[in-house]
Amino acid sequence: MKKIEAIIRPSKLKAVQRGLKDADIPCITVAAVKGTGLQKSYSERYRGTEQSMILQNRVMITCIVSDNKLEECIEVIKENASENKAGDGKIFIYDVQDAIRLSTGVRGNDAIT
Ligand SMILES: Nc1ncnc2c1ncn2[C@@H]1O[C@H](COP(=O)(O)OP(=O)(O)OP(=O)(O)O)[C@@H](O)[C@H]1O
Ligand SMILES: [Mg+2]
Repeated sequence: MKKIEAIIRPSKLKAVQRGLKDADIPCITVAAVKGTGLQKSYSERYRGTEQSMILQNRVMITCIVSDNKLEECIEVIKENASENKAGDGKIFIYDVQDAIRLSTGVRGNDAIT
């Protein structure tokens, strides 16, 4: 199992959620976050604050998928979240040791779908 953490523009959330659902990846966790990337392209100041210190509103989508769904999940997020511009966001991938569905006690891959 893999954990996919995608930090994207809030405006892309609906399209990504729709894409994931259509790809049979309906279980996601979404959080509103603030963050900053490199922002190398500009270093002006906005109201006295260096641009690279300004935290942008972003959305973090977390989903746990079986190993054989990983590449499809990445593709769906790339297709729906990217404007091919700086600031589009990033995807991080982690190994997941186990999952447990509390209602039944089922573990592993059967617990995540
Ligand atoms: N290394 C990182 N660790 C944690 N969060 C990150 C990291 N890189 C980016 N982020 C998060 O992703 C958001 C979007 O990042 P962004 O796309 O601006 O990255 P970048 O490295 O500046 O690349 P670029 O602007 O060229 O696309 C940031 O606001 C931040 O929340
Ligand atoms: Mg950036």
